[in-house]
Amino acid sequence: MEKFYLTTAIDYVNGAPHIGHAYEKILTDIIARHYTQRCDDVYFLTGTDEHGIKIQKTAAAKGTTPKELCDENAQKFKDAWKALDIDYTKFIRTTDEEHEKIVQHIFDKLLKQGDIYKHSYEGLYCQGCECFLNAKDLTEDGLCPDHLKKPEVVKEENYFFKLTKYKDAIIKHIKDHPDFIVPEFRANEVLNQLEDIQDISVSRAKSNVQWGIDVLGDDEQSIYVWIDALSNYITALGYDNENPSENFKKYWPADVHVIGKDILKFHSIYWPAFLLALDLPLPKHIFAHGWITIDESKMSKSLGNVISPTSVLESFNLEHPDAFRYYMATSAPCGRDGNYSDDDFKEKVNAHLANSMGNLLNRTLSMLVKYFDGEVKAEFKGENPLAKKALGTIQIVKNHFDNFEIAEAGLEITSLVDATNKFVQDTAPWTLAKEEKMDECGQVLVNVLDIMCIIASLIYPYCPNIAADMAKQLSFDLKTKLDDLTTDNIKCGKLISKEDIKPVFLRLDSELADKSAKKQ
Ligand code: MSP
Repeated sequence: MEKFYLTTAIDYVNGAPHIGHAYEKILTDIIARHYTQRCDDVYFLTGTDEHGIKIQKTAAAKGTTPKELCDENAQKFKDAWKALDIDYTKFIRTTDEEHEKIVQHIFDKLLKQGDIYKHSYEGLYCQGCECFLNAKDLTEDGLCPDHLKKPEVVKEENYFFKLTKYKDAIIKHIKDHPDFIVPEFRANEVLNQLEDIQDISVSRAKSNVQWGIDVLGDDEQSIYVWIDALSNYITALGYDNENPSENFKKYWPADVHVIGKDILKFHSIYWPAFLLALDLPLPKHIFAHGWITIDESKMSKSLGNVISPTSVLESFNLEHPDAFRYYMATSAPCGRDGNYSDDDFKEKVNAHLANSMGNLLNRTLSMLVKYFDGEVKAEFKGENPLAKKALGTIQIVKNHFDNFEIAEAGLEITSLVDATNKFVQDTAPWTLAKEEKMDECGQVLVNVLDIMCIIASLIYPYCPNIAADMAKQLSFDLKTKLDDLTTDNIKCGKLISKEDIKPVFLRLDSELADKSAKKQ
């Protein structure tokens, strides 16, 4: 694998980030970090979607300008991603001058080649979706099914894109590439939507929407959000109609666009059509994740249950975001909806990260210090009864990642931790020590520590800080590529002293966690 280019959806900036936005960025960051363990060149793009009527109206209601609102809120997204250790390569804003310029050229090219035409139109516009809806897709009460709001009737002369021209090619692509849409069960929904697809409006009258990119040579129209937003995936790489940049040549097509299920239509129908019209290759995968609910209810401003990701870190006094990242990433199987609840969060991370994984490392290292003064002797190295399971787990985890099954991969890692814990229980190194079978005792401890290096490596994408703490205590190089991992990781000689053994994750609400929180 020479490169891996992955992207998130770009978030609307009419509010601050919530844990639904965070879920997607965490999943993508985990995928990115996993692939850095398999290839040297990973490019991870995220950003904000800043034009459109929604932003224009929110700014007006706040008595500010759209640009000021965008600047203020884009910063909140950047701050949140920093707090969550989202290690992106580039953060694009659709108000970036470079992006705006390229979008104008893309639009112009499509117009000149006849894929975009002008047309007088009356339709039902949902501001939440930032798109026109078909009457048949509304609820019985005439509301947008996603936003439960009545769409406004808009009569305008707009530019239209000939989506219908590309319908057959897209259907063929989806059928020929069963892994184009992930999870596969969503492909049928898309094929159904394609059945009655119409040409789509790609501009709005400036008299109604001023906050948008101008159409070149037409003072009365601004480019409508989806062609602007979707293009970010190529403008960020410096796409240019005539003279594609080195980055573009190197990274396009994207290996995966990570998006929510609500915007799958735009990514699996509109985006491929724009790309076909531009004569560009299509992305390899569109991974549509499910939605995060709060205590099993939809997150919404009106219900007052919108949770910001940083508020979770603060309310649990978390030193780093690993527990939250782990919890979110494992909250739902691939493509399904997940749920956040404070109690469940506490219970799950205490069980998995503190009791199982953290404790296993802690007590194994403590025994090594107690019985051997932290010294690994040559006699302790040998066959590892856990080798088959551990090496098998690496392979299974890789396979899950290739299918974007992030929670499923997480469960495999937990299962390796459980198997290792069981091995310790079954072999009882403390009894071996009592019986003075010291070589056997040392072998068990080193067997476990060798596997802990693999666990640190596998858990790294989810919990980079915990993994780094584990690796430090194991003198293990976390940069080791997954394919180079073996079960012989612990070097002979002094591994650790008592004062260097530190719990890698403290139980939430434990006395120690309280104390360390108060110290800050
Ligand atoms: N701006 C568009 C995307 C353009 S991509 C070229 C948009 N923005 S959004 O802010 O509404 O959503 C951004 C992403 O967050 C989407 O992928 C969306 O599915 C995701 N989520 C928003 N709320 C969510 C949850 N409650 N749960 C999980 N993801 C959710 O759509």
